Amino acid sequence: MRDDHETMVRSPPSAALTDAPCDAGRPRYNLIRDPSRGRPVPYPVAIDEDRVAQVRHGFRPRARDAAIVTYPRSGTTWMQQIVSALLVEAGLHPRDDRRRLAERIPWLEAMSPGSEIWMRSPRVFKTHATHGLAPPIGRFVCVVREPKDVAVSTFHHTRAWRSFAFQGTWARWLALFRAGEVEGGSWAEHVREWVDAAARDPGRVLVVRYEDMHQDPGTVIRRVAAFLGVEVDAAGVARVIDESRFDRMRADPRASHDHLGAFRTADATPFLRRGVRGDWKRHFSAAERRAFDAAIRAELGAAGELLGYPS
Ligand code: A3P
Repeated sequence: MRDDHETMVRSPPSAALTDAPCDAGRPRYNLIRDPSRGRPVPYPVAIDEDRVAQVRHGFRPRARDAAIVTYPRSGTTWMQQIVSALLVEAGLHPRDDRRRLAERIPWLEAMSPGSEIWMRSPRVFKTHATHGLAPPIGRFVCVVREPKDVAVSTFHHTRAWRSFAFQGTWARWLALFRAGEVEGGSWAEHVREWVDAAARDPGRVLVVRYEDMHQDPGTVIRRVAAFLGVEVDAAGVARVIDESRFDRMRADPRASHDHLGAFRTADATPFLRRGVRGDWKRHFSAAERRAFDAAIRAELGAAGELLGYPS
């Protein structure tokens, strides 16, 4: 039996929604050229081409800088919480820092130009950049997630932010996602490029699966710590696991993003929405799943076998 939520996402848009000032349920984006790709990459409207160029060419890296890079809705915030807690455990950042997670590990392209110079080293940023638009940072922790769950999470996310002006149905979203006409562009291209970069230079890019963060967080946390050159003992790892639990992050106003309510639609799902594996089962029909998996398998190639996607 379908729950109310599923009925809502499968039903056609209401008259009010189809009257919305956007082209047949197409979200509003800035299209940014990626020199390594034939097609521009959609970004949120708050980030423009000048800003991305400024980050790529004007950013002054420091030796211990790192970034968390993801296709949107793949577990970025979770990894931000993990890395922030690791830096505290290692004594590199203060334990009593009351700032929000998004200030401790800011979104590089979305922060005020130049403000990164005031950050304490080692600096860690968040980015959703494609490999071709990546900032000149020495180390990237790349979190990847089962693409059907990414499609579901991005659907709710895009409907939730007023700036995207999108109230289309799930079917409409799935078509846009499949076509790569959503924030981040093609999921498979984004992931393949970063997985290839990790294979070429494992000291520069570490790929971590969202599903493994669920399954065995301790192992993932130790891998991330080793990659970033951060020392942490067993008790420290246990504290990091505890501090990055979904329920704790949801209840923590510094991590939940709940303070951004004014920018969200009236019926928005929370930013930290459900935090589970396999939510796609509540959204995809059998036919949608078959078509989606076949297309992703073809587009992802060897990287798909390595990652075990689609699952
Ligand atoms: P859902 O929408 O499926 O709930 P990002 O931070 O890249 O935007 O990714 C957001 C997704 O990661 C959301 O997925 C969110 O709930 C999930 N997430 C965030 N913190 C998490 C945690 N501690 N444990 C599990 N999932 C988490």
